[in-house]
Amino acid sequence: MSTFLAISGSLRAASLNTRLLQALPALAPNGVHIVQFDISDVPLYNQDLDDENPPAVVAALRSAVQEADGIIFVTPEHNHAIPAATKNVVDWMSRPYNQGHLRQKKIALFVGSVGPTSGTHCLAHTKDLLELLDNTVVCAVTVGALHEKLALVDGVETVSDSDTAQQIQAGLAALSS
Ligand code: FNR
Repeated sequence: MSTFLAISGSLRAASLNTRLLQALPALAPNGVHIVQFDISDVPLYNQDLDDENPPAVVAALRSAVQEADGIIFVTPEHNHAIPAATKNVVDWMSRPYNQGHLRQKKIALFVGSVGPTSGTHCLAHTKDLLELLDNTVVCAVTVGALHEKLALVDGVETVSDSDTAQQIQAGLAALSS
């Protein structure tokens, strides 16, 4: 059994990226458990708070990252870049310098967008950032027109576009191999 920690980089209640995250378990290989970590309460990174007693939510995030077999980011693109919320948790997870838990991890990256660039800038930017921190990004997928590719089926979030579902399945298989 592998456990993957999944983070949505959008804080809004009706986030399409959070809905995409919730659709991932159905596309994961057998024996994979996907656990969402809600980052809504993670404060803005402040080195004054990052002492031997960091905020409880940060301590919980760091230990969840340490225990996870892989990390999944599902994030929007904001103004051709990584959104502040996503970058903020990466910053917390990257510390202490060279000892942070977001290091030497396998990562799957999904960027969901409804905009004209389909998240390609954020994908490249976030992949570079995660590799800079010595992680291996095993899959990096943009999902454009995300609002057209999700459906609630019997109360379960589902990827309704078969090409997208196949790409995600392949990405999650790479994460678990
Ligand atoms: C966007 N959006 C967007 N889309 C895109 O493809 N490229 C971009 O650069 C941007 N920039 C951007 C900036 C800001 C501040 C917002 C709020 C939105 C649109 C974005 O894809 C759309 O709002 C998604 O629905 C956001 O994802 P969530 O919040 O639904 O998960």
